[in-house]
Amino acid sequence: MTLTIKKLSACEILDSRGRPTLAVEVTLSDGTTGSAQVPSGASTGVHEAWELRDGDPSRYGGKGVRKAVSHVEGEIAAALVDFPAEDQAAVDRRLIELDGTPNKSRLGANALLGVSCSVARALASFRKIPLWQSLAGGRDARMPVPMINIFSGGHHADHNIEVQDFLALPIGFVSYGEALEAVVAIHGRARELVEKRGYRLTGVADEGGWGPALKSNEEALEILTEAIAPWEGKVAIALDIASSHFCRDGVYDLKTDVKQLDGTGMIDLLEGWVGRYPIISIEDGLSEDDWVHWPQLTGRLGDRVQLIGDDFFTTNPERVRRGIGEKSANAVLVKMNQIGTLTETFEVIDLAREAGWRAVISARSGETEDSFLADLAIASGAGQIKVGSITRSERLAKYNRLLEIEKRHRLEYRFP
Ligand code: PGA
Ligand code: ZN
Repeated sequence: MTLTIKKLSACEILDSRGRPTLAVEVTLSDGTTGSAQVPSGASTGVHEAWELRDGDPSRYGGKGVRKAVSHVEGEIAAALVDFPAEDQAAVDRRLIELDGTPNKSRLGANALLGVSCSVARALASFRKIPLWQSLAGGRDARMPVPMINIFSGGHHADHNIEVQDFLALPIGFVSYGEALEAVVAIHGRARELVEKRGYRLTGVADEGGWGPALKSNEEALEILTEAIAPWEGKVAIALDIASSHFCRDGVYDLKTDVKQLDGTGMIDLLEGWVGRYPIISIEDGLSEDDWVHWPQLTGRLGDRVQLIGDDFFTTNPERVRRGIGEKSANAVLVKMNQIGTLTETFEVIDLAREAGWRAVISARSGETEDSFLADLAIASGAGQIKVGSITRSERLAKYNRLLEIEKRHRLEYRFP
């Protein structure tokens, strides 16, 4: 008997910012169920797949997702009930065809992703194996090294400074558990160092890092360098500049630093930082459509620094293919909801690997208690994960799932 999809249901739930998002549950013909919750970004790229919101101002300021819920339970269910469940790629292809738009704007990428991931969960249950193992297929599953947010700015921390993420990258540990323990200590030290400089901290930013109103972007680098100093050589710095959000008409406006830079000026700035601080990874150092300067940045820093495209590639196979062809970067950030199905997500991961690029599996700033991403990171073999800081349970859901998997399974752990 062919295993088929029997039922789909969805529910409007809230994400870690208290904004509506979707939970989806699928029931298979043998009674197995699987569910998934969908994340949501704030510093989104313009080329992302479409997150469908109701636009009804009387509910959640227009951010409700009842339309997406009704698409799952209506049109998508009608197309998928009795559809074979065991071929994830076929399910995802059916979803993409059914939507019929290039950016999934008709049914909503949020609706599609919820269905795609819940089918994957149900399949893992049906196969009676962990999700990561079910997802991996022929890929070399391994534990990811976490890149962990310590300071936040930009859209995630009220624009106190422009650079969005200052992260600790624990490259020199023999296990994920040890790496995590070091970064917890670094997060605490960073707080002490900030307070010693006279800043007050009253809470954490959207991804659980500290969001102080520092005097400059570089001050965050100074403090983070001091915070990681006891782990010299074992912990490095990663940055997510998220520069599209302070770039207008080719001008990067670093208000806090009173600097207005063109693309070349931005590359000079980053090169200066790489020379002065132990930075080994930079994400979105240039804006999402700056195809001219990205290859120049890669030419200047690509042999020393991991240069990741997030808003630049938006987990879109076509954009990644172009980037590989033009030597625009050397790594890609992978966010499932930027593209909308699991199959396309894996297409990007596989493209990166085949090109000798790295991939970093990433959460969104708006997250849920779903830990799917931890399993995806292991299954991908990418070796790196980015899910925010070590506070806030929507982040810990992923970190803790990884701790449990590391305890239970013998999986390789090392920085790629
Ligand atoms: P977002 O931010 O989820 O708000 O887009 C995450 C990132 O830029 O990496
Ligand atoms: Zn980013």
